[in-house]
Amino acid sequence: MTEEGKFPRCLIEKIDDQALAPDGFFELAEEVSNACLKIEGISGAYVSVTLVTGGEIRKINREMRNVDKETDVLSFPSVSYAPGKTARTSEKRLKKAYDPSVGRIFLGDIVLNTQRAMEQAEEYGHSLKRELGYLTAHAMFHLCGYDHMTEEEKTVMRDMEKRAMREIQLYRKEEAAVTDEKMQALAIEALEYSYSPYSRFRVGACLLSDDGRTFQGANFENASYGATICAERCAVSNALMAGARKFTKIAITTDEGYAWPCGICRQVLNEFKKGDMIVMVGGKNTPWKTKMLSELLPESFGPEDLDIQEV
Ligand code: THU
Repeated sequence: MTEEGKFPRCLIEKIDDQALAPDGFFELAEEVSNACLKIEGISGAYVSVTLVTGGEIRKINREMRNVDKETDVLSFPSVSYAPGKTARTSEKRLKKAYDPSVGRIFLGDIVLNTQRAMEQAEEYGHSLKRELGYLTAHAMFHLCGYDHMTEEEKTVMRDMEKRAMREIQLYRKEEAAVTDEKMQALAIEALEYSYSPYSRFRVGACLLSDDGRTFQGANFENASYGATICAERCAVSNALMAGARKFTKIAITTDEGYAWPCGICRQVLNEFKKGDMIVMVGGKNTPWKTKMLSELLPESFGPEDLDIQEV
């Protein structure tokens, strides 16, 4: 377990009858709230999360906010932030919200309407878990002082929510549906970043992770030739640093003809493949061809030969 796992940035206090909670919801809520606080840059907080029905949230909305309407999520910050400030820039006010009985700062309450979340999940075509995760992130950022009254505020808040979703790798279904054409276009776009004054052989790549994200890479050469990094390994490094670990497909391109991956890149791709990997090569004016990585690197030597549990 990581340090962070042992001492979570954010604890979740579950209140009321939680019969409405889908399996694993509170683990998810804790993961989401930790991700949000990591992005905000604070720790040592706790929040309370309650799941309610449509009728109940309407009642709470009426009693607490004088708004007689059902909604998907409500948040009640316990800290009052000065205009333009959020949790990370409100140290003094956060200190005032310190709860000695828990040994943490109480950020406030989150109320989630499970019924509405189910409807929205259906409408957007993603899982209930994904929807509740997103709503929790939205509420967490409200508790940290963010709002969406103006377009500018909205953009900032959406960006924070997206980062939180990325952090825990919860994606909308449509984000996961990356077409081959899209990957090929991204590989071609990556060519523009190539630094190849020695070979004049530009290479661009686009790697697809198993959670539907794409990562670009280009080749970067060096006066000490051996220090060159290939486009494929550049894409792999980018992806690993963004928290992706398993890849299903790669598109590789050069200006003319085909750039099949070199031996070192085949070995590196082999390390992080999910099952087998699809390798597409082609270019702007070159028809694309596809092979499996297992064809390009038969009888391979990989993590399975060293009996490691997980990569
Ligand atoms: N290159 C790649 O980027 N990927 C490969 O798999 C093959 C080679 C680059 C490295 C170098 O900058 C140039 O192509 C010529 O070797």
